[in-house]
Amino acid sequence: MVLTTDRLIMRDFEESDWPAVLGYQSDARYLRYYDWVDRTPAAVQALVGLFLEQQAATPRIAYQLAITLKETGQLIGNCGIRLAHAEARQADLGYELDPDHWGYGYAFEAAQAVVAHGFLALKVHRVWASCVADNVRSAHLLEKLGLRQEGRLRENEYYKDRWWDTLLYGLIEDEWRARGSEASFSPDRP
Ligand SMILES: CC(C)(COP(=O)(O)OP(=O)(O)OC[C@H]1O[C@@H](n2cnc3c(N)ncnc32)[C@H](O)[C@@H]1OP(=O)(O)O)[C@@H](O)C(=O)NCCC(=O)NCCS
Repeated sequence: MVLTTDRLIMRDFEESDWPAVLGYQSDARYLRYYDWVDRTPAAVQALVGLFLEQQAATPRIAYQLAITLKETGQLIGNCGIRLAHAEARQADLGYELDPDHWGYGYAFEAAQAVVAHGFLALKVHRVWASCVADNVRSAHLLEKLGLRQEGRLRENEYYKDRWWDTLLYGLIEDEWRARGSEASFSPDRP
């Protein structure tokens, strides 16, 4: 599956993508809000293997797409939307970028297309996401996408010697359509 935006091509993962993922997931800026302290080739190969399994599943319920730059083909992150099961009418959103590519609006561009895929192709009623409260870049991105903060789970995760709050966000189909996001989306855009 492929989703195309102005600057990005989002495509299914290939087995050979793991070194690019290991490269950015080993960056301290990336690792800051995860419980991982480091990443290994075996762990990243397993993660990419999971994405490959999800791609092959019938029916497919998880779409974790590699974000690549249209101009160079470089893999700079991933973005995904996942149903809990085939009949679910809601899906959760996730994303991550190589820190060298933060601050260019790539995550916003990718996530906009993935959210549109959720509402238009998967026909979900609600898209939700969670993020660590301290991860202000992620919370800011969710708010730019139109998701509303619906809750805060206080000190519900413990790693790296401290407790972390988690924010929950949601976006309902009507709210998404009211933003006019539908008009700007075309899955077949060259
Ligand atoms: C979360 C994450 C993806 C956000 O990345 P990001 O680059 O900050 O997000 P965006 O794509 O929204 O880009 C942000 C900035 O790019 C700038 N920008 C530059 N060119 C732009 C363009 N053409 N279009 C839009 N924004 C642009 C904007 O100023 C924007 O900041 P603003 O919204 O304050 O104006 C990134 O921090 C990350 O990968 N973190 C590690 C993994 C992670 O935490 N994942 C989430 C787990 S919940």
